[in-house]
Amino acid sequence: MTTTPTTPIVLDPTGARTHDEHLRLRAHGPAVRVDVLGVTAWSVTDPGLLKELLRSPQVSKDARAHWPGLAEAEGTWPLALWVTVNNMFTAFGADHRRLRRMIAPAFSARRVAALRDDITAIVTGLLDDLAALPAEDPVDLRESFAYPLPIAVICRLMGVPVEQARGFRGLVDGVFDTTLTAAESAANTAALYEALGDLIATRRTTPGDDMTSLLIATRDEEGDGGSLSEAELRDTLLLMISAGYETTVNVIDQAVAQTLAHPEQLARVRSGEAGWDDVVEETLRLEPAIKHLPLRFAVTDIELPDGQVIAAGEAILPSYAAANRHPGRHGDTADDFDVTRPDKEHLAFGHGVHFCLGAPLARLEVATALRMLFERFPRIELAVPAAELEPYGSLISNGHRSLPVRLRR
Ligand code: HEM
Repeated sequence: MTTTPTTPIVLDPTGARTHDEHLRLRAHGPAVRVDVLGVTAWSVTDPGLLKELLRSPQVSKDARAHWPGLAEAEGTWPLALWVTVNNMFTAFGADHRRLRRMIAPAFSARRVAALRDDITAIVTGLLDDLAALPAEDPVDLRESFAYPLPIAVICRLMGVPVEQARGFRGLVDGVFDTTLTAAESAANTAALYEALGDLIATRRTTPGDDMTSLLIATRDEEGDGGSLSEAELRDTLLLMISAGYETTVNVIDQAVAQTLAHPEQLARVRSGEAGWDDVVEETLRLEPAIKHLPLRFAVTDIELPDGQVIAAGEAILPSYAAANRHPGRHGDTADDFDVTRPDKEHLAFGHGVHFCLGAPLARLEVATALRMLFERFPRIELAVPAAELEPYGSLISNGHRSLPVRLRR
């Protein structure tokens, strides 16, 4: 039997014991009220219910239109940026279709497949750099491999010059760091907007064959009243750069960590019983890059199957990581890393109209990175016990602070 706690469950902003916390959330049924850094929201952990809500026209991501709590949150809530950006991520209905349509063609399966050679070349370069390091010394693979690959790919697609790319790194980290105070977070946002302003200025004066230049051209040709406002231009770049940076990093990090912690699973890949794509999907299920995604809002009262009601205007927190390990979906082995699991369904990329636009790109990057890393360094091992890997300080982002390995070539 499930019980309803009298006060919202406070989520740990440091993400220190994520899976224990998710177990606790699931114990209260398909949805339970949580406190997300001071904001109350319904955490939804049942995958069936979550999919239904993510498809529902009764659920919006547009805080300005559908969240009475916005006024209070602006200026005081450290995660305010997640609900105030002006891009497809927070748009509803026709606005969402307009903003997504502008970008979607560049990320189709066909366009992504054409990036395969570029991705292979970038991975080769990174592995060459690793091979040149002193043998047997531990190396932080998150820093030297998981980060630089997605950053190089997204910066190339978006036309971010190398010297500006370095500046984005810490600022994007700041967006996902849920241990920042509201003031620190606001300062990070201001610096991020300054960096985006610099990028727009650079590509406005020297356009290239990239997505930023394309969006600037649309904006400048159509002007005010056209299909892209200046704020939407800036925030679309923010979305593409940050989504491209942080999430894929976590999947590479988690996939390498899981594979090294489970040599019997690596053996299954080596024997051909499973492929690297299976490793990617099972990692996305077990350790999704995004644990909880702030926020959605009920447009009308929504009655849940257990009789609870999410009232119009209340916030909803899709708890993707908790849903992905739901025993109702994946049985007793939900917490196991099993690359031959027949049912690998997961919600790591979301569901419905906001389904991740970068999913084909992310999958290609991670599978290529894993295949080439394990081919080049077949004796690679963790340099610390898996249980000692420290989680990244976030209730959103699901990675490690570092991933020390020995390449043992
Ligand atoms: C493995 C890596 C990735 C993961 C796990 C991931 C996860 C997600 C999730 C969960 C959402 C849905 C958010 C929601 O619930 O509304 C999302 C949306 C999105 N992702 Fe990703 N993402 C990844 C990589 C990327 C990359 C590489 C890009 C771009 C280059 C990207 C671009 C986007 C965009 C634009 C959206 C917003 C779509 C919309 O609102 O219509 N993602 N992503």
